[in-house]
Amino acid sequence: MNEQHLEPLKPHPEGRALRAEVDLGCIARNLGRIRTASGGREVWGVVKANAYGHGAVPVGRALAAAGVHGLAVSSLEEGLELRQGGIECPILVLGGLRPEALPAASAEGLAIAVVGPEHMAEYARILPGHPVRLHLKLDTGMGRFGVLPSELGACLPGLHQLNPWIEGAMGHFATADDPDQGFAQRQRRVFDTCLAQLADAGIHPAQRHHGNSDACLRGLLDQDTHIRPGLALFGLTTIPEGRALGLEPALALVAEVARVKTVPAGTTVGYGRTFVAPQPMQIATLACGYADGYRRDLSNRGVVGFLGRTFPVVGRVSMDYLTVALPLDTPVAPGDPMTLFSSDPEAPHGLERLSQALGTIPYELTCALHRRITRRYFP
Ligand SMILES: Cc1ncc(COP(=O)(O)O)c(C=O)c1O
Repeated sequence: MNEQHLEPLKPHPEGRALRAEVDLGCIARNLGRIRTASGGREVWGVVKANAYGHGAVPVGRALAAAGVHGLAVSSLEEGLELRQGGIECPILVLGGLRPEALPAASAEGLAIAVVGPEHMAEYARILPGHPVRLHLKLDTGMGRFGVLPSELGACLPGLHQLNPWIEGAMGHFATADDPDQGFAQRQRRVFDTCLAQLADAGIHPAQRHHGNSDACLRGLLDQDTHIRPGLALFGLTTIPEGRALGLEPALALVAEVARVKTVPAGTTVGYGRTFVAPQPMQIATLACGYADGYRRDLSNRGVVGFLGRTFPVVGRVSMDYLTVALPLDTPVAPGDPMTLFSSDPEAPHGLERLSQALGTIPYELTCALHRRITRRYFP
């Protein structure tokens, strides 16, 4: 396969009038807020999934300039993308790596999470020739990646061999957003027990990090040296503590009106004719659809912002287009910008309220923003 297929579409000044506007200043300020909330701990800024849809390289550069310790991604490819974008700070691949990929990680100076006991012997064979810094992931209760406490004893000989390269130990909370902190506290205790077991075996990871955004906001950091926030950097939150901290959403999704028409009562709009104009009105068509990440279940439900008001999305959202109804007396013309996702957290089309209304989380909405959408960055 031609790797060019993986590249984002290059924006053209005369191309589709759909853009994600990303305020990098907000992201830097959010970093400051979350760092303060964590008591000044060092930050691994999580920029996986194209920085939650915000654009990995520009966001990574902004975070590096704002003083993160490093950036965390999910895969080798995401790490390489940052390096190719000229980012030189530490990069941690959270999702682990097959031993065959260690030389590539070593060549680019990527640190790797060891996500299970499987490949420790092979790692120990390859690392002397291809050194890589390692972060041992412990499964303290998330139940996906990580060495289980019950496996740790059997792993100690393998970890001994890896010890020269072990830089960190990490876990991940399953319920940091839950007001009942019982399970999170249990995860902390499991983490401590595992760290003590490692220490008894002479393994002392210099870095310890178990906390995502909500764990920072809820003070679940205990003995950690570092934090690993993602969502909070983008100014989004699913818990009240996030708003109280003053996090600023960094992204707005804006589409210019492509066509406006005035229709008589009884006109139907879109696939399935699910909207029938109850009176004469204007229908604005915008070049944004579910292929861009604007959810089809916002058909006849979503609203867009325009002229300081909101107007309803009517008819079905299709692959590339959606339609908005406006009264006859609203001045609207091709080229006018309408806001599909607002950076105002109080707006009904702000990402937090929208995701709540859809029964999902803001992560899903931003991560779904397709690479074909032009990203425009503000300092
Ligand atoms: C291992 C790991 N650490 C940290 C994060 C960041 O979490 P959040 O975006 O909730 O801060 C994630 C996100 O999914 C993750 O998978």
